[in-house]
Amino acid sequence: MSLRLPDSGAPQLPDGRRLAPSAERNAEPILALLQAEGLSGRLLELASGTGQHAARFAAALPRLDWQPSDLEPANLVSIEAWRAQAGVANLRPPVLLDAARPGWSADWQGLDAILLVNLLHLIPAPAAATVLAEAAHALAPGGKLLLYGPFLRDGRPTSEGDAAFDASLRAQDAAIGYKDLAWVTGHLAEAGLTAQVVEMPANNLMLVARSG
Ligand SMILES: C[S@@+](CC[C@H](N)C(=O)[O-])C[C@H]1O[C@@H](n2cnc3c(N)ncnc32)[C@H](O)[C@@H]1O
Repeated sequence: MSLRLPDSGAPQLPDGRRLAPSAERNAEPILALLQAEGLSGRLLELASGTGQHAARFAAALPRLDWQPSDLEPANLVSIEAWRAQAGVANLRPPVLLDAARPGWSADWQGLDAILLVNLLHLIPAPAAATVLAEAAHALAPGGKLLLYGPFLRDGRPTSEGDAAFDASLRAQDAAIGYKDLAWVTGHLAEAGLTAQVVEMPANNLMLVARSG
């Protein structure tokens, strides 16, 4: 992805770990929600990015078998560096996975949970719809898709900052930008998932979507 994002140019430590300020900022509230959900079993994290979340969350949630992934090979290097530093047994080596590729769920059946943080606004709507459908297909009955990010509500951004960020994304690529909450929950419902909407800091939402 060659978008200019607030985290572009995030520093890299000598051991290969990259640091994204946004991942630092939202880690605590996301972790608190994951803990409250009482998750256990196999979790696939899509679009893991630097790997900061994977390392921190896997360490704090030992009942989860945490599988990080990303589309970008360079990110796998940073995720692996975070994994080496964390030294936690329940964090697996990262895998290359394009979450917008039709059919990927065939290789990832029976998951207990899927986490996706801050991707849907960065990809076109048809790709986002594929991500949602494939994630739903990969879940075991009773499994949960946890979807975090910024969304439009009734077609509108919820703050000036969100309006500016959404506009900056659309200026870079007219096909991308914030997705509307109702559009996302509609796709989740079509895929058989019932979503609970949780307000998070900085106008973000976590959708906790349950299968079956
Ligand atoms: C804004 S970053 C979010 C990273 C991480 N989840 C976080 O919150 O720090 C978006 C990530 O999505 C990844 N990505 C973009 N398109 C993807 C796709 N089709 N499948 C999987 N990952 C993708 C990028 O490589 C990048 O790591």
